[in-house]
Amino acid sequence: MFEKLEAAPPDPILALAGLARADTRPQKLDLGIGIYLDEDGNAPVMAAVRRAEQRVLDGEVSKAYLPASGNAAFLERLGRKVFGEGLWTGRRERFGGIQSTGCVAALRLGAEVLRRAGCRRIWVSDPTWPIHDPIFLAAGLEPVSYPYYSVGAAGVAWDEMVGAVSRMERGDAILLHAGCHNPSGADPTIDQWDELAKLLRDREVLPFFDVAYAGLGYGWDEDLAGVRALVEATGEALIAVSCSKSFALYRERTGALYFMSRQAQEVGKVLSNAMSAARTNYSMPPDHGAAAVAELLGDSELEAEWLAELGRMRTRIGTLRETLVQEAFEAGLDWRYLRDQRGMFSLLPLDGEQVVRLRDDFGIYMPTNGRICIPALARIGAGYLAKSCGILSWMKTAGSG
Ligand code: LMR
Repeated sequence: MFEKLEAAPPDPILALAGLARADTRPQKLDLGIGIYLDEDGNAPVMAAVRRAEQRVLDGEVSKAYLPASGNAAFLERLGRKVFGEGLWTGRRERFGGIQSTGCVAALRLGAEVLRRAGCRRIWVSDPTWPIHDPIFLAAGLEPVSYPYYSVGAAGVAWDEMVGAVSRMERGDAILLHAGCHNPSGADPTIDQWDELAKLLRDREVLPFFDVAYAGLGYGWDEDLAGVRALVEATGEALIAVSCSKSFALYRERTGALYFMSRQAQEVGKVLSNAMSAARTNYSMPPDHGAAAVAELLGDSELEAEWLAELGRMRTRIGTLRETLVQEAFEAGLDWRYLRDQRGMFSLLPLDGEQVVRLRDDFGIYMPTNGRICIPALARIGAGYLAKSCGILSWMKTAGSG
C-alpha cells in the first residue's frame, strides 16, 4: 500500500522551525513560527494563566469526556469577552459556539459547516497564513484570493480589496483576520471595517473571522472592534477564536468556533453540523486549556492580571518594532512602514533568494515571503537582522550578490 504513497510537501512554517532547531550556530535567529518569546528567548506561561491552571488541577474530580460541544463556561465567558457584553448579551439567542482543538480545528469546523450549507467559495486575503487554503480545500471549499497588502506599504490595499469585494457573489464567504493580520500586520481602520460591513451585508457574503492575536495589536477591545462591527452589521458570521497567543496556551490546543445566525432557531442546526464534523475528526476537545481560560475569565482579579500582562507583551512588541526601524536605518534601510503595523508579524521587503541567504549565511530563519515574528527578535536580534539585511541589500545593489 505505502509503496505508491507520495510524501506530503513539508509544512512551510513547522518545517522551518525544525531546520532552525537543528542549526547549531550560536548567533542563529529563528523568526519563523508565531510564538511570543521574552527577552531571554523563552515562551513564558502567563502568570494569571498559571494560577488559573493550578486552581483547575486542584479542583479536578474527573477525567470523563467533555460534551462534544466542549466546556460550557469556557464558551460563555470567552464569547462575552470576544464579542463584548452588549453584543453578546443583546443577541445571545442568535449566538452559538463549539470548543475546538485550537484555531485550526475551529477553521476546519467552520469550513465544514459552510460546505454543508451550500457554500462553495471562500475568499482569502493575498497574502495570508499559508495553512488557510489547505484547510478550506480539505473541507471541500474553493479558496479564491482577494488583494490585501503589498510589501513595503504601511496599510491595507483598500481600493483593490473593495474592488474584489464587488466581484463576490451572494453565498460566498470571506475569510478576514480580526486584527494583527498574519503575515502583514496591516489591518483595516475602524471606518474601513464599517464600510466593509455594509458591502458584505449588501452582497450577502458571509464573514468568517480568524481571531488569533487579540490584545497584541492596539488592545483587547480595540483589536476586536472590526469583528464586533461586522458581526452586528451582517447578522450572520462565523468566528474562529484561538487562545494560543492571547493566553499563551499554544500546546494546549485551546480555541472555539462561534457563529451568529439570522434566526435563533438556526443555532441548533449549525451547532449540530459542527459537532458531527468534530465527531468524525477528533471526537471531543481536550479539557485543560479551556478549563483554565474559563477559570481565568470567571475571576475579575485573574482577568485583570492577564490583561495587564497581555498589555506588557503588546508594548514590548511595539518597542521591538521601533528598535528594528532604527537599526534598519543605521544599516541604510527604510523600514518605517513597520511602525504602522501591529501584532506579531510583518513582511520584510526581501526576495526569496535573500531569505535563503539569510538562512544559509547568517542563520536567520523566516518563511520565504519574508515574514518575521517580531517578539522573537529579543535583545540583540533587531540589530543582527538589520545589519544582515543591509549587507544583502548592498550586495544586490552592487550586483555582487
Ligand atoms: C504562525 O503563523 O506561525 C502560527 O500561527 C503558528 C502556526 O501554526 O503556523
